[in-house]
Amino acid sequence: MVSVAIMGHGVVGSGVAEIITTHKNKLFNSVGEEIYIKKILDLREFPDSPLADRFTKSFDEILSDREIRIVVEVMGGTNPAYDYVKKCLLAGKSVVTSNKELVAKHGAELLAIAKEQNCNFLFEASVGGGIPIIRPMNQCLVANIVDEVAGILNGTTNFILTKMITDGMNFDDALKLAQDLGFAERNPEADVEGHDACRKICILASLAFGKHVYPEFVHTEGITKIALEDVKFAESYNSVIKLIGRVKRLEDGKLDIIVAPMMIPNSSQLANIDYEFNGIMVRGDCTGDVVFYGKGAGKLPTASAVVADVVDCVKHLKTRKYLFWTDGTDENIIPYTQSQTSMYIRVKSQNKDVAYSKAEEIFGNIKSIERDDVTNDVFAFVTPEMAYEDIEKKIQLLENDNINVLSQIRIGNL
Ligand code: HSE
Repeated sequence: MVSVAIMGHGVVGSGVAEIITTHKNKLFNSVGEEIYIKKILDLREFPDSPLADRFTKSFDEILSDREIRIVVEVMGGTNPAYDYVKKCLLAGKSVVTSNKELVAKHGAELLAIAKEQNCNFLFEASVGGGIPIIRPMNQCLVANIVDEVAGILNGTTNFILTKMITDGMNFDDALKLAQDLGFAERNPEADVEGHDACRKICILASLAFGKHVYPEFVHTEGITKIALEDVKFAESYNSVIKLIGRVKRLEDGKLDIIVAPMMIPNSSQLANIDYEFNGIMVRGDCTGDVVFYGKGAGKLPTASAVVADVVDCVKHLKTRKYLFWTDGTDENIIPYTQSQTSMYIRVKSQNKDVAYSKAEEIFGNIKSIERDDVTNDVFAFVTPEMAYEDIEKKIQLLENDNINVLSQIRIGNL
């Protein structure tokens, strides 16, 4: 029997307890011994839980219990999760977490402690919910030099965008529904402003390129400025708008990393990933594109990835799994202003023909997006590819000519 503790009994934590309990025999057959939940840490009372006798409010009870070899951290946030996880690792206990904020902010340090203490720090559930991505990248794709990772990494925003596109639902109602379904973060700003997706692309970039990429190095835009008008123009351009996290290795070895809404062509493998589903494309030099797809949020999908890591820890109680990256700086990351992109731009002007000619004069070879159902003072076009800072300067030139830029969305050639 291997004793584990679970810190946190929220959506994911209760899912972990449920799977370990209901899948007891399946898990026994997989590891050859029982996985026993000895303690559950939560400040709330759960008198009706079948595991009511295992609850504690004291972290020290878990830390000092030598029988507990594996600790699951599913509290979310970094305070007190960081302190608790660090103490568990320093005590030689393996830790499994779904906490992307923790891994994105402190991954390099916690991995180093796990290495020193010869225990494991695993976090499969921190990216892509129930989709296997950390382990495949770390093991199955390890022979590749990764050129690019791009994905739809946040279920809440993908759910909101899908509801806007398919049902014409407004933003607030769609967000409320995502919260009710248990997809959203405690603070949904982290979802809609792109911070959750940013943490996830940081984890994938750190894993792919071997050096920690911190969230503050990454230019991040959310979906709050996306209008239904843009969704319709995207449709006319045979594209959809998705919140994309993307990291590319440039020829000089530097990284180009961003989180932003992008218009991606309907032909892209990521275009049909809807609702709370996530999709992640890994471009390896040997494999070419490999795409991972599945439920990126929700109780049981996320909990299943946590429990798989627990199983891995049980199987590696005496050895370490090789999962590691070193600390990193922003020296290896280009400023987002230098990133090359083409841009969808929607504008308003009294004289559409004159404004279109002006846009052509400023940007060069633009592509017009045609729609019959817009007022004749509004039009949209796609610019050629250029550095983002040049696009910004040219947008200013349009504004100087009284051409009002209503929105701009990067084109994602994925
Ligand atoms: N809030 C996150 C999402 C949960 O919507 O994807 C899973 O990380």
